[in-house]
Amino acid sequence: VIKSVVAGIGSYLPERVVTNAELAERVATSDDWIVQRTGIRQRHIAADGEFTSDLGRKAAERALADAGLGAADIDLVILATSTPDQTFPATAATIQAQLGIERGAAFDLQAVCSGFVFALATADAHLRTGMFRRALVIGAETFSRILDWEDRGTCVLFGDGAGAVVLDGVSQADAQGRGILTTHLRTDGRHRGKLFVDGGPSSTGTVGHLRMEGREVFRHAVGMITDVIEDAFAATGESAETIDWFVPHQANRRIIDASAQKLHIAPAKVVTTVDLHGNTSAASIPLALDAACRDGRVRTGNLVLLEAMGGGFTWGSALVRW
Ligand code: ACO
Repeated sequence: VIKSVVAGIGSYLPERVVTNAELAERVATSDDWIVQRTGIRQRHIAADGEFTSDLGRKAAERALADAGLGAADIDLVILATSTPDQTFPATAATIQAQLGIERGAAFDLQAVCSGFVFALATADAHLRTGMFRRALVIGAETFSRILDWEDRGTCVLFGDGAGAVVLDGVSQADAQGRGILTTHLRTDGRHRGKLFVDGGPSSTGTVGHLRMEGREVFRHAVGMITDVIEDAFAATGESAETIDWFVPHQANRRIIDASAQKLHIAPAKVVTTVDLHGNTSAASIPLALDAACRDGRVRTGNLVLLEAMGGGFTWGSALVRW
């Protein structure tokens, strides 16, 4: 096996849409403030009884259908999430069982907003060793469950959703050179107190709520993002000119714009869904990618640059010939 090729993609959003105006009825904020600082206009919120596994499974079903594959074709499931259904077993095991996948392995991966890039890189590495043949890589989150709905500084930023890709380990390059070309992952745990959840099984025995020093996150984001993208360009000889699409983690319009500008990526190449989805953490990249595939922007053979940064801090990039 020499490469992992994206064979299919799918996503799922809960039905309920919550607008900024609706949030302004709960906390002291306004549509203007939220749009100006973040670019977010609305977010989807999971229904009572709708779990991360439900969102992830629906996205995975759509990715499998898109790939023309079934449960018997998959032997690896990696779910990137910070909002698992339970402390254990892994929510990936729930999704695996619900999809009827009976072989190989399934596990969760926790890198907060960078989770999808970390999961993609992990699946790619496993496929290239020949350890597994075909992987479902899922990002699924119900951040609405860990938000402090009284804290206007954080509750306006996040939403729920899921996205998934099917990765196929191939032993021969095709004419277009499709596949994951390079991935770069970083963590610097010295920053772990800037974006965290103030609870957990070993510390408080409670689920806890998301806490963030927004300004500090913002201050570090652009530099970290651009560093790891420069690593991707250096490893492949590709550049801001040669990429077709830039699909960043959708945290905040201002972070996305500043990163693209610093890298000299043309605004027309930037895929943005943060206005409609808010920050869906590990789900944001596959959600944005799926939107851009469905509306015909991202096509087979395109060079797509993915990037994410989140709690930890964690950050990473992936360059994919679609
Ligand atoms: N509505 C109205 N006012 C608000 C709101 C709100 N929703 N939230 C905060 N404010 C107020 C604050 O209370 C403060 O008021 P004060 O001056 O009277 O004390 C004022 O706005 C300024 O607050 P700051 O936090 O300094 O505002 P800032 O301009 O930094 O914007 C924001 C806050 C949007 C969170 C910004 O820091 C940001 O985008 N940071 C990046 C964080 C991020 O995207 N995190 C996502 C998770 S990490 C990731 O995915 C990369």
